[in-house]
Amino acid sequence: MKALVLAGGAGTRLRPITHTSAKQLLPVANKPVLFYGLEAIRDAGITDVGLVVGDTAAAIRAAVGDGSSFGLDASYVRQEAPLGLAHAVLVARDFLGDDDFVMYLGDNFIVGGIAQLVEEFRTTRPDAQILLTRVPDPTEFGVAELNDAGQVVGLEEKPQQPKSDLALVGVYMFTSAVHEAVQHLKPSGRGELEITEAIQWLIDNGRKVTSTTISGYWKDTGNVADMLEVNRMVLETVEPRQGGMVDAGCDLIGRVVIEDGAQVSGSRIVGPVIIGAGSRVTDSYVGPFTSVAPDCVIADSEIEYSIVLRGASIRGVRRIEASFIGHDVQVTPAPRVPKAHRLILGDHSRVQISS
Ligand code: G1P
Repeated sequence: MKALVLAGGAGTRLRPITHTSAKQLLPVANKPVLFYGLEAIRDAGITDVGLVVGDTAAAIRAAVGDGSSFGLDASYVRQEAPLGLAHAVLVARDFLGDDDFVMYLGDNFIVGGIAQLVEEFRTTRPDAQILLTRVPDPTEFGVAELNDAGQVVGLEEKPQQPKSDLALVGVYMFTSAVHEAVQHLKPSGRGELEITEAIQWLIDNGRKVTSTTISGYWKDTGNVADMLEVNRMVLETVEPRQGGMVDAGCDLIGRVVIEDGAQVSGSRIVGPVIIGAGSRVTDSYVGPFTSVAPDCVIADSEIEYSIVLRGASIRGVRRIEASFIGHDVQVTPAPRVPKAHRLILGDHSRVQISS
């Protein structure tokens, strides 16, 4: 069995961060979200992985390489434009051959991995096995309709009037039957070849499609709140560790990870928190559910429930919360006179000012 990991797409819903980063490489507890998926695939006993890449191909290649650091054998398939999930299956035909495969969307996060699901698929081998989860707003997803016996009878992509609250999760398992299905598709309203419609084609043509409903699922919705929430969930499971230097003037409470080469002085850190390698935290408060990437500076500041990306610095600012701070961003107080905000914001930035 192979894995097809989708790591293309523009990530428009997570701008401005995705102007410079692939959405699959945004970190959760200081590790790219894509890496959790790759580890889940390896833990399911699959080693042959094809990554479908687009404009951010170089960054994805730089991060994943030949896959050996994950115990995987990674190859790359170029998708010239983000023309849909079923289009990705089309362009990956040579890589996939006639093998069974799991298709994994690189920006999805599944708590507890996929080993059991893959095992189930291997033993029962339906033509498609889909995962479903209950969501509050199904209009943002592919939505499944089940009959009383629990069989999938219909699927719709982002319906205005959803027939259920069961959303398609971004992990699908297929036999080679899906290749016939994708041949029959026409671009949808959003101009994409929809995998949802390919699965509907399988149902309509008497193929076996099964579903499993899971909980503990997260998808980026462009809502930073969701990123912060999954970061919170993962931080709650990290093992406390003190690799860097922490001076006597510090208070470390709860689940705190100080990575090698980080320096913390005169600060109060209330976990769960992770402070990345080479970061310096001085005379500050870092509160629960905060991830600080490597090489950041936090000085004379207070921050909690936030994600700070590599190289950012926050000096003399209290208090920051529920924030997502990009690479090499600088946050400082404005001069006292005139009393004004001074902003240099990239395209599609979002700022909330409390005054
Ligand atoms: C895609 C699928 C959708 C599925 C979702 C899961 O949506 O088209 O059916 O529910 O992934 O992440 P997209 O991310 O393209 O909006």
